[in-house]
Amino acid sequence: MNPKNVGTIENPDGYGKVGNPVCGDLMEMYIKVKDDIITDIKFKTFGCGSAIATSSMVTEMAKGMHIDKALEITRSDVATELDGLPPQKMHCSNLAADALHEAIKNYKSKKK
Ligand code: FES
Repeated sequence: MNPKNVGTIENPDGYGKVGNPVCGDLMEMYIKVKDDIITDIKFKTFGCGSAIATSSMVTEMAKGMHIDKALEITRSDVATELDGLPPQKMHCSNLAADALHEAIKNYKSKKK
């Protein structure tokens, strides 16, 4: 319900895209970074409701975080925050954390 941070960012500092091997859905994550702090974050997904709910959660958690802290957001943190997900939906929640990590890696590789 009312997912936050849906959309894209023009000229993002980091971009990550992951596909879900289980269902074939896609997740894209865009971040803006200043002094290694995530100042803005948006996601776009063709995933299901669980994927959208977890992405909304992950983006809310990550906003304002140091990138190294955000890299520590794990799949299970996300599910815990959401009070657990049904097992058949766990793969959906993995998308968001994975896409965030990809976006941060992308940012770091550009910085070098
Ligand atoms: Fe594809 Fe959930 S069923 S992301």
